[in-house]
This record gives sequence, C-alpha cells and structure tokens, in this order.
Amino acid sequence: MRGKSVSLDSVSMRFGDFTAVQPTTLTIQAGEFFSILGPSGCGKTTLLRMISGFMSPTGGTIRIGDADVTALGPNRRPTALIFQNLALFPLMPVWENVAFGLEVRGVSRRDRREKAEELLALVALDGQGDKLPTALSGGQRQRVAIARALAVEPAVLLLDEPLSALDLKLRQHMRTELKEIQRKTGVTFLYITHDQGEALTMSDRVAVMRSGVVEQVGRGDDIYDNPATSFVASFVGESNRLTGTVDSISGGFATVSTRFGTLTARSGPGLAAGDKTIVFIRPERTRLQDTPDGAGLALRGTFLRRDLEGPFINLFFDCQGTPFSAHITNDSRHAAETGTDHWLRIAPEDALALPAGALARDE
Ligand SMILES: Nc1ncnc2c1ncn2[C@@H]1O[C@H](COP(=O)(O)OP(=O)(O)O)[C@@H](O)[C@H]1O
Ligand SMILES: [Mg+2]
Repeated sequence: MRGKSVSLDSVSMRFGDFTAVQPTTLTIQAGEFFSILGPSGCGKTTLLRMISGFMSPTGGTIRIGDADVTALGPNRRPTALIFQNLALFPLMPVWENVAFGLEVRGVSRRDRREKAEELLALVALDGQGDKLPTALSGGQRQRVAIARALAVEPAVLLLDEPLSALDLKLRQHMRTELKEIQRKTGVTFLYITHDQGEALTMSDRVAVMRSGVVEQVGRGDDIYDNPATSFVASFVGESNRLTGTVDSISGGFATVSTRFGTLTARSGPGLAAGDKTIVFIRPERTRLQDTPDGAGLALRGTFLRRDLEGPFINLFFDCQGTPFSAHITNDSRHAAETGTDHWLRIAPEDALALPAGALARDE
C-alpha cells in the first residue's frame, strides 16, 4: 500500500448563511500522519467529508495525488473512512467483516480469506478471523474496522475521532497501535480529534482549527512551543496568562507593561508596539524560588493548594487575583503550606507574547 498527498486549495463549505469551513489551503504529504485538532463544532468532520467525497465543497479544489477529485463521488476516490461508530456486521465472522469490500469487487472467497488474514496480522489480530466481533474487546473491534478500511487499499485513510468511544487506557494503547499500522502501511492518515494528547503523540504534523479556520499547521513541538495565536496557545496544553500592552519589540523579544510591572517575553507572530497582548507562560516553565532573583519578572504568589498527578504535582497560586500554576516533577517534596507566599519567576525565554485574541473555552 502506498499513501498519496491531499491538497486543498481554498476549499470552503457554506450551509445557507453559515460558513462551516472558511477557504482553506493546505497540503498533506504522501505517507504522512496528519491530524486536525479543534474543539467540537469547528468544522473538522465537514472538512473530512469533503475530502472523502460525501460532501461537495461550495468553493475550492481538492486533489489527491495528481488527480483533481473535487467532482468525484466517494467510490471513485482512493480514500476510506473510519468513524467513531464502527458498524461491524455482528453476525459475520471477523475475517468476513475485513474482506467485505472485496466481495463487492468480485474477489474470490479464497483470495478474500488470504487478504483478510494478512490484514489481521497487520493489526495484530492473527488467528482471530473466525470469531464474531462481539467476542472481541473494544480495542480489537477498532482494529478490525481499520483492517476492513485497509482491505480496499486506500491511498488515504480518513479517521473521524475513532477512539472517542474507548476508555482512557485503551485510547492510549491504540495511539501506539495506530501509529504503528500507519508506519507499516505507508498509507496517508488524516486523523480528526478534539484530544490534543492524541494529536501530539501520533502525528507528524497537526493543524489546529477554530470556527472553520485552520489557525496553525506544524509539528507537535512547534504547536506547543511556538503557538501562533492566543487560541492555539490556550487550546493546546495548559498556560498561565498575563494581559498587557506592548511597549516595544526588539531582537525577537517584546517589552510588555502589565499590572505587575514590565515583562520581557518572546514576541509571537503579528505583534507590534502599542498592541494589546496576552503573555503565555507554561506551568512547567514557571520558576518557583525563595527569592525574586534572576532575569525576567518575579511575581509574589500566595499558595492555595496542590494536586498530585503522580509523576508531577500541580501547585496553584494566587497573584493578587490572577491565578498562576506551576508544575513540578515529583522527585522532591514541596512542603508549601496554604497561605504562604512564594516567588514565581517568569524568565523571558519562557514567556510568549501573542496578539490578544479569542481563547479556547475551558471544558
Ligand atoms: N449538514 C449540515 N447543515 C448545517 N450545518 C451543519 C451541517 N453539518 C455541520 N454543520 C455545522 O457546521 C459546523 C461544523 O460542524 P462539524 O464539521 O461537524 O464540526 P466538528 O466535527 O469539528 O465537531 C457546526 O456548527 C455544525 O452545526
Ligand atoms: Mg466531528
């Protein structure tokens, strides 16, 4: 099997007066594991439906490999789609479920069986072909659905939140499995999710979407360390936030006036002197100290409480009405007592100033 690229050129979708997907231009490379990450209702499924051919865009052009597929129906595209609801046939043995698409194409029973066994081995279900789907676990059924989708040898596999019905442990396990299947087959995976952990762990690249707009495309590290907008910074990972006004920008750093004093922060894209800004500081980059010493701005915070996560601990502070948190690894005992004051230092390289804009809602 071999993947193909997917190119969107100003692809958009309107429903009456409402634009679910704004004109989007984007290329997914052949053989890439590409995720579209965004909150519910931002247009992910609509985008996927347009790529699969189940919905015609109201504007733009879609190419798969070298072919313009914009006017082609789903059966004439080299794509296969996997939903959250797997729709396996309950009374059909697993191998027949896998080979179902081949029967429609007139492949002989013997060849179907052989192909099904090959695919079952690929998804680590060797020898399970004669069972009924009901005899399998949720994660195994998910892999049967993937084998079935791969049976027709698609160049692009489209996955719409396929893990959301599984419990947490299984979801995490399936991330590794999916990534492995993708690597072995070389098929282009276009994976849709509202779960940042899924997107960051599996993907070669991620597109972050909000209200029908792709706000940023990049590798996971890029998205996390260099978010391009306030929305991306607040949607992906946790962050502390200080609002302020940009005094000046020089050498990639912005000087920002805040109610706590002047702060130096890395300057994000599109920021200019005089702009309103939100400065983002990751909790794991917040430096907890006994003194205010060091470069950057030190805030005085009153310790509120701690949450033990196991490998790390979240410490929560109140800085004159502004909440601030710090993550520390659980390799030492932090003995802060509620109500005691501490210094939280924000080093310039650990803070990112972005144009003030919409934030992700806490859900
Ligand atoms: N067939 C449709 N008719 C009208 N509105 C739709 C239709 N399909 C989706 N929408 C709207 O488009 C927006 C994006 O939906 P969707 O693509 O399903 O989002 P997501 O998959 O990111 O949750 C939502 O506001 C949804 O209500
Ligand atoms: Mg959806």
